[in-house]
Amino acid sequence: MTTRNLPFGKPWIGDEEKNAVLEVLAGDVLTHGPQSKAFEEEFAEYMGGGYCVSVSSGMAALHLSYLEMGIGVGDEVIVPAETHVATAHAVEMVGAKPVFLDCEPTTGNIDASKLESLITKKTKAISMVHFLGVPCEMDAIMKIADKQGLKVIEDCALAIGSRYKGTHVGLIGDTGCYSFYPVKHITTGDGGMFVTKHKDVAARVSKIRGFYVDKTFAERTIPGMYDTLGVGLNYRMSDINASIGRQQLKRMGVIREKREANFITLKSGLSNIFGISILDSQNKDAISSFYCLSVVLEKPLDAKRIEIVKRLNAAGVGTSVYYPQPVPRMSYYQNKYGYKATDFVGAERISDQSIALPVGPHLTTDDMVYISQTFSSVLKELN
Ligand SMILES: Cc1ncc(COP(=O)(O)O)c(C=O)c1O
Repeated sequence: MTTRNLPFGKPWIGDEEKNAVLEVLAGDVLTHGPQSKAFEEEFAEYMGGGYCVSVSSGMAALHLSYLEMGIGVGDEVIVPAETHVATAHAVEMVGAKPVFLDCEPTTGNIDASKLESLITKKTKAISMVHFLGVPCEMDAIMKIADKQGLKVIEDCALAIGSRYKGTHVGLIGDTGCYSFYPVKHITTGDGGMFVTKHKDVAARVSKIRGFYVDKTFAERTIPGMYDTLGVGLNYRMSDINASIGRQQLKRMGVIREKREANFITLKSGLSNIFGISILDSQNKDAISSFYCLSVVLEKPLDAKRIEIVKRLNAAGVGTSVYYPQPVPRMSYYQNKYGYKATDFVGAERISDQSIALPVGPHLTTDDMVYISQTFSSVLKELN
């Protein structure tokens, strides 16, 4: 087999994005103008509802969620152990305590059956990540949240196009937080979207995102005059970034289709390999966005993970790890809260034993056959 070059992620940037940026640069408004507004409306349309606020990153959307909810010192928020650090950092940033919840083995999503055991008088919210794009079991989570009066924050950084029982994720809980970092489904360079089904929440967050001033540039009747209603940040998305996002969003239908086709081909190509498990949706009502395909090397094969990765990379197969460590095992959280690694065996299995393989639209179904055949050959070589 001729060696290929199959990166894990590659943004799909065409002339449409380049021309859109040039058009913004040729105009008078570079930030927080008509492009950002149009991107917000088009993103809501893509999801099929909700109110959107464009922001500078996925982390900004998460931080704004807690700020708007008034969650802070003395409060606890339940956070997935298996996620990007941003999911937990947003809780830390407002002074609240992240209480980590382990994941279940087939999807990597939070184990809803263990949720209630972590709720205390201090718990104010539950956050979750739709891991690798597979929606969490939202019925079970929302039932608990409603019963206990808790807010729900959906980290949708990997989940554009994911639907649970027909509803786009991010519109089930109180807030949905999206990331447009370059390896995500669509990109704006850096950027994010705060999403909510509550109009008043969107209105408040849109103010907090821009220093919490009462009038945006466009809303001021007398230039330069405004008041401030509270403490805010500058988490705005520029019109340059938003113009890229608008073009990217037009590709989303094709991007999702290609990812799904690639995932199905790769999963089928790996299906006869002994000693591995593939993370995937277990619920026909939970439609994935197919962010990537994560292979868990079950024991004792996991001992060969580094060597397998090296050989895959040498054969041109890009890989990654989602995520490199359970967050409570990361130095900062372990030092501060003293979590023991053994408290999160589900997350440890995924972090320490998995390899993430690419399924993005930069790759063809034939590339998926190459990846599964290469994977199989590498395992035979190491046997
Ligand atoms: C699950 C998850 N949440 C949040 C983020 C943070 O998003 P951003 O990089 O846009 O701040 C990421 C990664 O980028 C992520 O993977």
